[in-house]
Amino acid sequence: MQDYLEANKGRFLEELLELLRIPSVSADSKFKGDVRQAAEYVRESLAKAGADVAELHETAGHPIVYGEKIVDPGKPTVLIYGHYDVQPADPLELWTSPPFEPVIKDEKIYARGSADDKGQFFMHVKAFEAMMATNSLPCNVKFMIEGEEEVGSNNLGTFVSQNREKLKADVILISDTAMISNDTPSIDTGLRGLSYVEVEVTGPNRDLHSGVYGGAVANPINTLAKMIASLHDENGHITIPNFYDDVVELSAEEREMLESAPFNLEEYKADLAIDDVQGEAGFTTRERASIRPTLDCNGIWGGYIGEGAKTVLPSKAYAKISMRLVPNQDWNKITDLFAAHFQSIAPKSVKVTVTPHHGGQPYLTPLESAAYKAAEAALTESFGKKPVPTRGGGSIPIVALFEKELGLKTVLMGFGLDSDSIHSPNEHYGLFNFYKGIETIPLFFKHFTALS
Ligand code: BES
Ligand code: MN
Ligand code: MN
Repeated sequence: MQDYLEANKGRFLEELLELLRIPSVSADSKFKGDVRQAAEYVRESLAKAGADVAELHETAGHPIVYGEKIVDPGKPTVLIYGHYDVQPADPLELWTSPPFEPVIKDEKIYARGSADDKGQFFMHVKAFEAMMATNSLPCNVKFMIEGEEEVGSNNLGTFVSQNREKLKADVILISDTAMISNDTPSIDTGLRGLSYVEVEVTGPNRDLHSGVYGGAVANPINTLAKMIASLHDENGHITIPNFYDDVVELSAEEREMLESAPFNLEEYKADLAIDDVQGEAGFTTRERASIRPTLDCNGIWGGYIGEGAKTVLPSKAYAKISMRLVPNQDWNKITDLFAAHFQSIAPKSVKVTVTPHHGGQPYLTPLESAAYKAAEAALTESFGKKPVPTRGGGSIPIVALFEKELGLKTVLMGFGLDSDSIHSPNEHYGLFNFYKGIETIPLFFKHFTALS
């Protein structure tokens, strides 16, 4: 195995770069053809690696790539999930090299999708290829690589519920999260849920002269800003009534265990060029970004934003708002609570509409499961260090749905770093991480097969 990886690592990288050149931005219909081309590339690479089945499944949106290799129906089956779609690359001017022309700099691959998630799921394709080529695949493997993760996986649920038999497996393995650092391996044991909404505030029936009407008629931008500001109190708590009702509070032991993982607040601040952090009183920075629910405005617009000045009292203002949720909050319930509260705080001078966008439930991986133990053993073997359990702050909404629809638990064996700038300009993924992942995945297969 080690010889095969060493002999082929140059080609593995070339093939990943090829995939990174395809601008598979799922959010923007302009890239629809590219998204399909990326799916086709993944399908082909699975077929070439030795899958018995490698096919595209059409959906109402972007296609899903499915592949499988059954070595023995009596053996366990690992289902690999990943996504070949990427976030939009804007703002383009902040990239030091074009997002879809990957370059290697300081031992890192710079390109949109390099860490999230092309570079990570592709490790599984290459690990599979290596196990096939060296006759060492110890159990069955299935692949489900989708093209709509970054836009809410709207069509994956239907695919999953219509293909329960096909997707039968013993565990789901995903590399789409981060670890603490290259010398402190960790495994995310939880993901936050999400409720994403768009709000529209309407004042007068048309844009007005801000001198003629200003001061007498509600300005929807001023009003929206005030409403958003009121969603947190001075202690950083979210003010929506009943928002925290279902939040599971961690025990002192659990909090202590999570806090024992290395973290340097000074480095954290320096990396972000901020002089101070902020957040919910009574919780540490890491806790605020993992075990606590949050509310953030992701975008706000309205009025005149072109060159120069225009004295206008706009008719409308808009915002996109996301709430990160923790066990056992339910995203539908939270969306309803938000909508009701947001309506209730609107002054009579404006009209408000709240449109739910998408969401997903939070998720926890049990540390006692064979799959978690297998991932722990695999990382221990490849890093020479036992991985630390951590809680991730991001969301992969489909993971909770896999549990509901397929009865399967997921192990989040991610090889990225928080500093990879996923969703940001200059996203990158370490060559070390890419190769370490390819080396570790076969060890997971080995340990999981032995432990099941
Ligand atoms: N891979 C990320 C999720 C992630 C990143 C989890 C880092 C843990 C650590 C995923 O592609 C993602 O970006 N998810 C979205 C949700 C989706 C509905 C758009 C997110 O978390 O914003
Ligand atoms: Mn991802
Ligand atoms: Mn993402």
